[in-house]
Amino acid sequence: MYRSHNCGELRSSHIKREATLSGWVQKTRDKGFVIWVDLRDRYGITQLIFDEERSSGDLLEKARSLGREFVIQVTGTVIERASKNKNIPTGDIELLVSELQVLNEALLPPFTIEDRTDGGEDIRMKYRYLDIRRNPVKDKLIFRHKVAMEVRKHLSNQGFIEIETPYLIKSTPEGARDFVVPSRMNEGQFYALPQSPQTFKQLLMVGGMDRYFQIVKCFRDEDLRADRQPEFTQIDCEMAFVEQEDILNAFEGLTKHLLKEINGVDTGDFPRMTYDEAMERFGNDKPDIRFGMEFGELNAQAQHRDFNVFNTAELVVGIAVPDGASYTRKELDALVDWVRRPQVGAKGMVYVKCNPDGSYKSTVDKFYKQEDLAQWAKTTGAKPGDLICVLSGDIHATRAQLSALRMEMAARLGLRKPNEFAPLWVLDFPLLERDEETGNYHAMHHPFTSPKPGQLELLETDPGAVRANAYDLVLNGNEIGGGSIRIHDKETQATMFKHLGFTPAEARAQFGFLMDAFQYGAPPHGGIAFGLDRLVAILGGQETIRDFIAFPKNNSGRDVMIDAPAPLDETQLKELNLRLDIKA
Ligand code: AMO
Repeated sequence: MYRSHNCGELRSSHIKREATLSGWVQKTRDKGFVIWVDLRDRYGITQLIFDEERSSGDLLEKARSLGREFVIQVTGTVIERASKNKNIPTGDIELLVSELQVLNEALLPPFTIEDRTDGGEDIRMKYRYLDIRRNPVKDKLIFRHKVAMEVRKHLSNQGFIEIETPYLIKSTPEGARDFVVPSRMNEGQFYALPQSPQTFKQLLMVGGMDRYFQIVKCFRDEDLRADRQPEFTQIDCEMAFVEQEDILNAFEGLTKHLLKEINGVDTGDFPRMTYDEAMERFGNDKPDIRFGMEFGELNAQAQHRDFNVFNTAELVVGIAVPDGASYTRKELDALVDWVRRPQVGAKGMVYVKCNPDGSYKSTVDKFYKQEDLAQWAKTTGAKPGDLICVLSGDIHATRAQLSALRMEMAARLGLRKPNEFAPLWVLDFPLLERDEETGNYHAMHHPFTSPKPGQLELLETDPGAVRANAYDLVLNGNEIGGGSIRIHDKETQATMFKHLGFTPAEARAQFGFLMDAFQYGAPPHGGIAFGLDRLVAILGGQETIRDFIAFPKNNSGRDVMIDAPAPLDETQLKELNLRLDIKA
């Protein structure tokens, strides 16, 4: 038997009892006549003691030879500690060791395996298995497990069935590139790894499964960010015989259940906002509504004066930054530089200090009177002491820039509180989105999303204006889920493919199986998928998903631990009938 207890278990109630523990040597303190060893496992740390009075010379020698991260097994008696450690649950006791066995030696780890480590990100990723021994990483993986278990429990109680769908499939378009796998048995042919199980879950509805879910890996070859991984996990769900309202209720229920069980938070009913409203009020389709700083559109008040920059702009829009009037000239210059960084892309910024005495001081005093600026303050909700920041230009870009500034200022002002939760449904997304470069339309959600009732005809005349039965669930400014009511008849689906630029032959080749299935009694259906990694990270008070994934990839899509991706050897390439013509 390797252990009678784990390293987080022994308390004063165990004093005088014998116990056997196994674990890793966290550290050794050698005072000559007494040696203490901190023994660690997943559950905690227990202090071991060896001393000249009670331990044999051999045992002391053996204890002295222990290195960091050696795996050992010890047996001894639980005794009361002379000086107690209130910081750990086992801090009242220690184990007076009578037997010590080294189960495995260890090289000196490349970084310290403690809560505050000296290891940088790269080295910790290379030795991720050592990083996982640290509490901050280990606790996040356990947290993820808890969330996943609650999801399964809740959905199963609601009659959802978890069904696995295949990974070796044909492209399911979700807007990213596919990862592909060559087929050895079918020369020159490739599987695509699913960007989501979208088409399969729709086929399960045709199959009558009614309420499906799956905690499932998805694969997308896209540029990576803090909240994106090339392989990530969805809580994928679909329901038949439902309208949008049924789906929103069902998955608001799931989210409320998680917030309650995991975070102990009651949020009440989730607010709802249309896409258009979210864009107008926050410049963003996933607004963080934990704080205000809402957009005030200033076209009417700021245009038709002598300030040409505003006169020629499609949109003039501002936000009020709380207490910003006290910023120094240097701080304001830095803010202007911030919005002009290429990542944000504004050409410049006009600002107005709303002085505590009720007067205004702006960078455009030459063009605007105090009454004008007072109007701006009213529209942006600025109070005396605030700073109004105004950007202008074309609608799309200006909104994105001001939204970036709003988020940055909120972060600087500590308004993005990790333990505060503000969920929000964003509804009525546009069905189609125009590619700025090519001018072509593509599906904003995916091609299986249904237009809102009565809008199908608009596809012919004003495709950009068509709204979809599509919704996103936003939590603290992050899109944690998205879904839609689907098209369930062959004709509408064919119309959609046409508008997305597929010829009938192309649509047939790629999605014939789905259109065929729709001819055999497809029920009305819809669904949603949550990003599990994102959901877990936000419930855990963070926005970087990498920490919540046991073996994540870095920003170049590499696993630096196993060194993947890697070239294939000649034999394997030949077997797969692949020839690489890489130019040097
Ligand atoms: P969508 O593409 O919106 O919808 O994806 C659903 C959710 O998955 C998460 N997500 C990601 N998380 C981490 N890394 C990524 N690269 C990544 N990409 C997406 C997001 C997102 O909200 N089939 C549809 C769902 C449906 O219509 O039912 C779909 O996949 O949190």
